[in-house]
Amino acid sequence: MTAPAQRRLTLDPPDDAPTTQLHPDLNRAHVRFINLGKSYDSQHGQVAALHNIDLAIQRGEVFGIIGRSGAGKSSLIRTINRLERPSSGRVLIDQVDIGEYDEDHLVQLRRRIGMIFQHFNLMSAKTVWQNVELPLKVAGVPKEQRQPKVTELLELVGLQDKHKAYPAQLSGGQKQRVGIARALVHDPAILLCDEATSALDPETTHSILGLLREINQRLGLTIILITHEMAVIRDICDRVVVLEQGEVVEQGPVWQVFGNPRHEVSKTLLAPLQHALPADVQARLKPQPQQAGAALVLDLHFTGISGEEPDLAALFNALGGRVSLLQGGVERIQGRALGHLVLSVTNSPHGREELLKRARSLAQRAEVLGYVV
Ligand SMILES: Nc1ncnc2c1ncn2[C@@H]1O[C@H](COP(=O)(O)OP(=O)(O)OP(=O)(O)O)[C@@H](O)[C@H]1O
Ligand SMILES: [Mg+2]
Repeated sequence: MTAPAQRRLTLDPPDDAPTTQLHPDLNRAHVRFINLGKSYDSQHGQVAALHNIDLAIQRGEVFGIIGRSGAGKSSLIRTINRLERPSSGRVLIDQVDIGEYDEDHLVQLRRRIGMIFQHFNLMSAKTVWQNVELPLKVAGVPKEQRQPKVTELLELVGLQDKHKAYPAQLSGGQKQRVGIARALVHDPAILLCDEATSALDPETTHSILGLLREINQRLGLTIILITHEMAVIRDICDRVVVLEQGEVVEQGPVWQVFGNPRHEVSKTLLAPLQHALPADVQARLKPQPQQAGAALVLDLHFTGISGEEPDLAALFNALGGRVSLLQGGVERIQGRALGHLVLSVTNSPHGREELLKRARSLAQRAEVLGYVV
């Protein structure tokens, strides 16, 4: 396999393809969308799927795309290998505008950009070996070169002993491994994954994500993935973008977006990862203290920005009185500790506003949820 540093999308641009002068950071981008728009013709007129998309995806990163159904995620990813042609704006790969590519260049481009799908898209009448070999055959690669390539890839995805099996004899995870091997036959520089783990159970998803991470690190591939599973983004992505109605509404490092989602859509999408307040506490929660001695319930978020775990001693000292943990936990994303604690405070010498102020000096976000007896 090619060493990461040498792995580039080595396509000769057409002679008249415009190269673009950009900010140096953007000039290093592997994939860049500039003011991209896409609309489809339908019976009811034009459907605007994407507008004003400006994004830079860096070489070697695992880049996640999330958003509600119909937000434009698939439309966006499919402009990278030109399965969809943009209606306006540009897509640059290695600083070259692929809008100018003719059919021959597009065939070459698609060979160097692997893609995997939710439903694997394997040929049912062909064996594992033949499925992986097929794109090489189509590209006219001679048999003596196909043989070692297929062997190497089946080894990479851990399917050496299944090479004679047919897709119907494989589990979902094994089918996706064949899909991954097939996507890598032309040593792509970019791997696109559209809901590649959505048909898999959590354990199989975990092993496929491990494989994608390994491919990303060992081969230096840029991976761009769409998923509805927020845990997938948390577990393998470096950065994430949130799309809503065809526009970018939020983007950043995963720890930042997950630790402190700003847009309503991001908050809604990420809500399943947050533990809801236990039902019995929720039922007892009142906006005002109903009697003396009621406990104030504080909701604290630690967004990872300080780079430190929540300091419990400091928190308890600052709040005073009796502090109990009702709900909470800390998870690590990209080495950052993201915490969420729900505390009840009784017998504190401090009033509600002072407690909130003190909580806010230690947590990035703090709110009073109410009072419980
Ligand atoms: N071929 C098409 N013809 C007409 N409209 C289309 C076509 N493909 C997509 N659309 C429309 O474009 C919008 C974006 O679709 P897209 O498939 O990109 O969304 P998505 O974010 O991938 O959704 P999902 O999560 O459901 O896969 C939707 O309104 C969709 O109906
Ligand atoms: Mg889609």
